[in-house]
Amino acid sequence: METIHITDVSPRDGLQNQKIAVSTDAKLRLIELLVAAGVQSVEATSFVSPKAVPQMADAADLVPRVRALLPQLRTSVLVPNLKGLERAHAAGAQEIAVVLSATETMNVKNINMGLQQATEVSEQTLLAAQQLGLRTRAYIAVAFDCPFEGETPLAEVLRLAVRMQRAGAGEIVIADTIGSASPGQVKERMRALVSEVPAAQLAVHFHDTRGMGVANAWAALEAGIRRFDASVGGIGGCPFAPGAAGNLATEDLVLMAERSGFATGISLDGLLDAVAFAEGQLGRSLGGRSSSWLRGQRTKREAQQNQAAAVPVAA
Ligand code: COA
Ligand code: ZN
Repeated sequence: METIHITDVSPRDGLQNQKIAVSTDAKLRLIELLVAAGVQSVEATSFVSPKAVPQMADAADLVPRVRALLPQLRTSVLVPNLKGLERAHAAGAQEIAVVLSATETMNVKNINMGLQQATEVSEQTLLAAQQLGLRTRAYIAVAFDCPFEGETPLAEVLRLAVRMQRAGAGEIVIADTIGSASPGQVKERMRALVSEVPAAQLAVHFHDTRGMGVANAWAALEAGIRRFDASVGGIGGCPFAPGAAGNLATEDLVLMAERSGFATGISLDGLLDAVAFAEGQLGRSLGGRSSSWLRGQRTKREAQQNQAAAVPVAA
């Protein structure tokens, strides 16, 4: 069986835009449940300005606790600049992700830099991270459409992906930040990217705004991509990208991949426990498109097990 690798980004992408403040203890518990489900990589938080994203202000408290509790976990964090890298390294992060958007306006709205400055700062941050011995990822955000500039030119996405690879990014994450991509577009763009950057170094990050997340993940799989971001319960969204709804749900991605013959190492029941916990924290019902079916299956299975246990064994 071929394997796909999933990075669950729910503690960062999923929580950065929530109206309800989630405590550091609860974030830690969510990450613990993800690991219990078999998730091997988690994007735990971001080291950004607490004025820009107050929901991530506890990053320096959270990361050492994650490292102490779950030393086996590949703990990644988002950093927008050298200051973020410095803070992430001091907190014990092993992997950082820089965030470069493929359009001028999105960079300005997100990290208050134009495209050229954002590209240079991302390169400097990637190089400095490697000198510190950290693993690196580089997001190319709005790689399909930008909420401010419309369709993003493919040539620009290719150019930036190659620059991030030359700067040593271990993984280049092609992100559909507002969830507007279609499977045809994903196939075209990922095929073009695979001809410039080795497929093993490319990952995709889909939002499910228009219900295309699973279809887009399938299109990426067909283009040779084996690395995926997803968010348990489908929570997520960028506060600076209008129209960005939740991420592709980890449970939808795992179900689709396993049913299509790919191993993920992740238990769907375990993910349902994480969804239930996140629901308790956020006070509303969550879940990807498959969640109600998955819950129904689990309830049926548990009822059968209880019935079997209740049947008296003949002497
Ligand atoms: N972590 C914490 N604080 C940071 C920081 C970081 N990575 N980078 C800068 N700062 C602080 C500075 O120290 C300064 O603090 P002060 O006002 O107390 O002196 C303040 O932020 C302004 O610094 P400056 O370099 O001028 O930043 P800016 O105001 O131009 O903002 C970013 C740039 C990148 C820090 C900010 O836009 C940001 O954090 N964006 C986050 C975007 C995000 O998370 N988007 C969602 C995920 S894609
Ligand atoms: Zn996202």
